[in-house]
Order: sequence, then structure tokens, then C-alpha cells
Amino acid sequence: MTTANPTLFDRLEEIRKEALQNLSQAADLRALDEVRVRYLGRKGSIKALQKSLGTLTAEERPKAGAAVNELHNEVEGEIDKKKKILEKEALGRRLTEERLDITLPGRAEPAGVPHPISLLIDEITSIFSRMGYDIYTHREIETDYYNFEALNFPPDHPARDMQDTFFVGEDLLLRSHTSNAQIHYMENHKPPLRVVVPGRCYRCDAVDATHLPLFHQVEGLLVGKNISMAHLKWTLETFLKDLFGAETKIRLRPSFFPFTEPSAEVDLLRKTKDGKEEWLEMLGAGLVDPNVLLACNIDPEEWSGFAFGVGIERLAMVRYGITDIRMLYDNDVRFLEQFRGQGAT
Ligand code: PHE
Repeated sequence: MTTANPTLFDRLEEIRKEALQNLSQAADLRALDEVRVRYLGRKGSIKALQKSLGTLTAEERPKAGAAVNELHNEVEGEIDKKKKILEKEALGRRLTEERLDITLPGRAEPAGVPHPISLLIDEITSIFSRMGYDIYTHREIETDYYNFEALNFPPDHPARDMQDTFFVGEDLLLRSHTSNAQIHYMENHKPPLRVVVPGRCYRCDAVDATHLPLFHQVEGLLVGKNISMAHLKWTLETFLKDLFGAETKIRLRPSFFPFTEPSAEVDLLRKTKDGKEEWLEMLGAGLVDPNVLLACNIDPEEWSGFAFGVGIERLAMVRYGITDIRMLYDNDVRFLEQFRGQGAT
């Protein structure tokens, strides 16, 4: 290299060598950036060369200037090239290191399952809605009138003792059955009518294997023309066969409820595990008492009906072979898990 300023050109050559060597040693993008700062940065050695051009003579300057620029461009070009290589390498590394192993078992979020009581309520209401029944719900905090009086419980009648409920105010109580909804529904709907009412009920019962102070019922009510016990029996048989299987047999035993006349206790015939048969008491029912219709301004000369009320916890216990009602509310996941996959959802 012929030159007017050997020191500058020597220096330039030195820098080139050093820069190219440093570049080849830069193992990652961070090291490469350090190289860039060292040579091309504001305080970098190539910048320093550019500044030193001012000390040259006017003749020397163009050639030296061109050589410095050339070095600048060369180093810049090499850095860019190296950068692309390193970026590609980094990506390649990430692709191998972070590769998804699709053979690993997934981490599933544990999904909840519907509670058996909800499952049964869904099942029962859907059986009845297929038979044309309306589904209706009503309040749990009730007045004496709707829970008792309109249902033909005279004041101080001993039948009230069967349903000792919680009083929450002067004339307010927690309903002891879903029958209160019979009155609300008939006050708002003209016959003919068919309705089922699922919901919570409360009674002042001590907790044991078959009693809880809070439980669920589904009430049924039908009002039409010339309704008889035969209609009631057919309906309950159809319902219970749907729930427990086509072989299911039922029987009606005389009973008493103030709001039905005649009244019946409905039993279900079940095969026990050891092949024996047993009658299990399932629900209360009867023909709607004329006084109940009168309380709702429905003429009992023209209309008649039947009603029934079924305890859902009781039904669940029979259906699933649950021996202690408290299991339904212990919230033990191992118990509830067993209902996964049951029902429509
Ligand atoms: N309400 C009654 C009970 O809780 C059940 C029932 C409902 C009986 C409708 C007859 C008719 O025991």
C-alpha cells in the first residue's frame, strides 16, 4: 500500500485485523454488539480515525478519508453478516430447546361436575316438560298464608306440627314444602294447567342419616276437567319408570295431607342387591282439595286436579344407593366425582 501517511494506514490495517478477529470470536449477539460499539460507536476506534483525518494535509485527506470510510463500511457489513448468522443460530437453538413435546401428557384443569341433586332436578323437570308441564319456581321465604292457610291447614291444626318450620319474622317463615308454589301458580294461571316446581325447603329437623333441615322437593300440580286418582297414578308411574326403569312398580297407600283429598303415600318396588323386593316410600300425592281451588278463585264444581311432592334427597338416596343423606352435603370431592358423566351435561 503506497501512502502519504504510513502511520494512519498502518493503524487502519491494525484496526481491520483486530476488528475482523474480534468479530469472528463474537459468540452471541451481545458480544457482537460490544464489537460494534468498540469500532463503530461514537467513541469507537474507527470514529477516532475519522476524527484524526483533520490533522492530515489537504492532499492526504481524500485518500485517507476514503480508506477510513471503506474500513467503516467493511466492518459494518461484516457485523451485519455476523448478526444474521448469530440470529439464525439463536433461533435454531430456541427451536430445538423449546420444542413442544406433544407426547407429554397434558395438564388438564380439573372440571367440576353437577351435584347429584342438580342432576336429578334437571332430569325430573325434563321428564315433566316432555309431558307438557310448565317449570316454575317461587320464593323460599313465605307467609303463613301461602305455606299453610291457603293449603287448607286451619290455624292450630295438628297437621302443622308435621312440618315444624323456621320462623324468621312476625308472619314470615322458611317454606316447609314446595306446595306454597301451588297457590302462587294458581293465582296467576287459569286452568287447565300443569306445572312442576323444583326448589329448597326447610324444616326444624335434627340432622341424622335421613334428615336435614334443608332439602329439596319437586312439586307437581295439574288442574283440568274430571281429574281422578287414575290420572295421578298413571302420571307418577310414567315418571318413576322413566327415572328407575321400565320394570318399576308403584303402589298408593292412603294418607293425609290437608291440601289433598283423597291423599296417598306413593311407594316404589325395588329389588335389593340380594334379589329380594322391598317397597320404598317415595312421595306424597293426592287430588287437590276443593278448598285449595277455592282459595285461588277456581271453581271446584268445574275443575279438579292432582298434586304431588317428591323429596329429591330421598330420591337420590334410593337411586344411587346413598345410605346417609349427609354425604350429599359434605362436599367430599371423592363422593361427588362419582357423578361425573351423569345427566345431559
Ligand atoms: N307437601 C307435601 C310434603 O311436603 C307433599 C305433597 C305435595 C303431598 C303435594 C300431596 C300433594 O310432605
